[in-house]
Amino acid sequence: MSSSYIISIDGPAASGKSTVARKLAEKLNITYLSSGSVYRAITYVCLSKNIKPSDENLKDFINTQSFNIEHGKVFVNNQDYSKFLSLPETENAVSSYASLACVREFALTLLRDVAKHESIIMDGRDIGSVVFPNATNKFFLTASQEVRAKRRYDEFCKNHPNEKINLDNILAEIIKRDDMDRKRELSPLIVAENAILIDNSKLNIEETIQAIYNSLHKKTGEA
Ligand code: C5P
Repeated sequence: MSSSYIISIDGPAASGKSTVARKLAEKLNITYLSSGSVYRAITYVCLSKNIKPSDENLKDFINTQSFNIEHGKVFVNNQDYSKFLSLPETENAVSSYASLACVREFALTLLRDVAKHESIIMDGRDIGSVVFPNATNKFFLTASQEVRAKRRYDEFCKNHPNEKINLDNILAEIIKRDDMDRKRELSPLIVAENAILIDNSKLNIEETIQAIYNSLHKKTGEA
């Protein structure tokens, strides 16, 4: 592979892209960044100041906040935002903020800056289509909605053993989120040109990583 490169991994919620991207980055010894974490950080900082998606000051507000990305972590006004990114309020609001033009524009600049000086694996919805249309390698991971709902369900049960959750509700949330991400006007979730599509409904994480790894080496070998 060339000295500096970009690997994009896009896909819908619970397609396993973040776990796969993180592990692959470890294997290749390069930085991993979840672009969703940038949208989540923007969402949380807005929520914390009660700036709603419809607020006309939203664009000015985010432009006065200091965002930094270091080693794949997002800092806002020098605070590590990791712990705020998976809060239910962030989770529930992120798709609404992420559909706004000013938010996408702001995130785009941050995401492109990260790749200026280092090789990176970035996951998201529009990395191969909009953020890095010239990425060295592009992948699109997906799985059936039922399989993805079951993954979210199992993850929740593992992390919250004393709480009850309903699989049908999770499936409904997955369907709703897919719909919002696919039908939105700006940067909808699509399979980017030249992206390799991997349906991992029947693959585990290691098998999915292996499929990507094989494809990276096949491409290098062909070059
Ligand atoms: O990947 P993650 O689940 O963290 O993304 C959270 C939300 O951020 C997505 O549902 C989507 O609405 C938005 N997002 C986006 N574009 C990206 C990454 C995430 O719109 N590249």
